[in-house]
Amino acid sequence: MASPTTSLLALILFAIATGLPAAHAFAINGQTVLGIQVSGTLACSATGNLPGNGIAGVLASVTCNVNGTPTVLGVATTNLNGVFVALITNLSGLDPNSLSCAIRVNLPILTCSLLPRNGVLQAKVNLKGTVSQATIGLVADATIGPFSIV
Ligand SMILES: *[C@@H]1O[C@H](CO)[C@@H](O)[C@H](O)[C@H]1NC(C)=O
Repeated sequence: MASPTTSLLALILFAIATGLPAAHAFAINGQTVLGIQVSGTLACSATGNLPGNGIAGVLASVTCNVNGTPTVLGVATTNLNGVFVALITNLSGLDPNSLSCAIRVNLPILTCSLLPRNGVLQAKVNLKGTVSQATIGLVADATIGPFSIV
């Protein structure tokens, strides 16, 4: 028996329930962000780190630990200078105080003979504590630590 009143009540309860995640919004310095923008450089060196010439056209993926499960949340391709900007737009399950994300680049990279042929270059993602305006809205700025081969 769904009278108009109970239907309305159900609708309101549903709206409240689905609105709850906003209470756990991902915020940087009190500013709610809609994404995380991770930028870094991939260089042609023995480790992928600078100094070295940037490597163009390489896929970098950003993988985060989401409730204990490593999950790919974004990909980007390096530009002519080896710079990539990967955007994470699904922040559900991520906590700014215990962010566990890494940039991963698969080897081999045929355009750089200094790198090993096997393995994965991996670098930790670090929030900078600042925000930027991106096309999707306000995003948290992030950089990467040094690459290591895993
Ligand atoms: C966002 O991430 C959560 C947690 O991993 C997942 O359940 C959900 O399906 C994702 N949403 C989209 C739109 O990918």
